[in-house]
Parts: sequence; C-alpha cells; structure tokens
Amino acid sequence: MSAPPEIPDIVARAFDMSRRAGYVSFCRNETGRLLATLAATRKGIMAEFGTGCGVGTAWLRSGAPAGTTILTAELDEGLAAAAQEIFAEDPQVEVLAADWSTLLNKGPYTLLFLDPSSPEAAGVDAVVDLVEQCGIVVMDDFAPCEIWPPLTGGRVDVLRETWLTDPRFTAVEVMVAPDATALIATKR
Ligand SMILES: C[S@@+](CC[C@H](N)C(=O)[O-])C[C@H]1O[C@@H](n2cnc3c(N)ncnc32)[C@H](O)[C@@H]1O
Repeated sequence: MSAPPEIPDIVARAFDMSRRAGYVSFCRNETGRLLATLAATRKGIMAEFGTGCGVGTAWLRSGAPAGTTILTAELDEGLAAAAQEIFAEDPQVEVLAADWSTLLNKGPYTLLFLDPSSPEAAGVDAVVDLVEQCGIVVMDDFAPCEIWPPLTGGRVDVLRETWLTDPRFTAVEVMVAPDATALIATKR
C-alpha cells in the first residue's frame, strides 16, 4: 500500500522501546495508519486491549484529537512498564499494567482496538457493551480470504464470521496489505 516512509515521532519512540525490549509483536504500519485515521475521528475515551510495547497505542495517539483519552492495558508487567515510559509525560494516554478486564468499567469507548491473544476476549458479546453508539471496534492480523464463510487454518473463522454478521454492528474487513486484513465494526 502506498504511504510516506515517515512515521510520527511517538511511533518512532515506541519502535525504539520495542527494539530495546526485544519485542516484535506489534501492529504493522499499515494498520497503524488505519488506527491513527480512525482515532482522528473520535471524541471521548478510546481503549486498547493488549498494549504490547506501545506501538499500536502510539499510532492511536498520533491521530487522537486534543481532549481525547486513550486507555490501554497490558498483562505483562515488563511490557507495560516499557509502554508507560513512552507516554509518561502524556496526559492523554494511560497505560495500565493489568488484565484488560480492568477496562470493563472505564468505558464506554468511542474506539476499541482489540488485540488480545485469545479469540474469546475479542468476541462480539464480550465487548458490545463497552462501545458507545457509533463507536468503532478495530481488530487486525487476519489473513485475506476471498470465500464465505472466512476460513482460518482450514476451519471456519467463527470470530471473523460473527463480527461481520452481528446485527449490533455494521462491519467490514479491509485489506491493509496484500497479506493482511483488518476488521472495522461500527456499533449501531
Ligand atoms: C499482539 S500483542 C499487542 C500489540 C499492540 N496492540 C500493538 O499493536 O503494538 C498482544 C498483547 O496482549 C497482551 N495480553 C494478552 N492477554 C491479555 C489480557 N488478558 N490483558 C491484557 N493484555 C493481554 C499480551 O501480553 C501481548 O503483549
């Protein structure tokens, strides 16, 4: 996908931190640009489940308008500490060293970036009440699939199928790169 090579300073800081921590499980730049673009349309509180080393958070922050807040939770204390360092001086970002369930009572959110390891935590039922009306849910790291229902590992990808058909959301899967898609769902 065509994009300028420059990345926002805050994202560069998050990459530096990831490198030092030896952590590589962060969202790709294409998804990051999508997160920044969507964050730029938001008001209120945004959230991320699974901070990693703060790269996705940094992309969100690069688009977040003044007056918005980003809450992000990371179970791994070392990773959370690294991400906290990146945003230590930023009143718009709070990194919690905690299970994402800590965020359940801090919403509702205008944008929710779901990046946990377990599919159960990313199901529609698990998060529908956390998102305000017209709020957006973003998930990444899907492999492009041109048939219906979508498959993953030779089986129906129930998570993706559910998100794309649940009547509580209007959803679309978009290719962010030839080998990667992201899912965007807006709450009705
Ligand atoms: C794919 S990585 C996150 C990448 C990050 N969102 C980014 O874009 O840079 C997923 C992270 O979720 C964290 N995680 C897994 N289960 C969690 C939970 N229950 N609560 C909080 N974080 C969790 C893992 O430790 C891991 O760092």
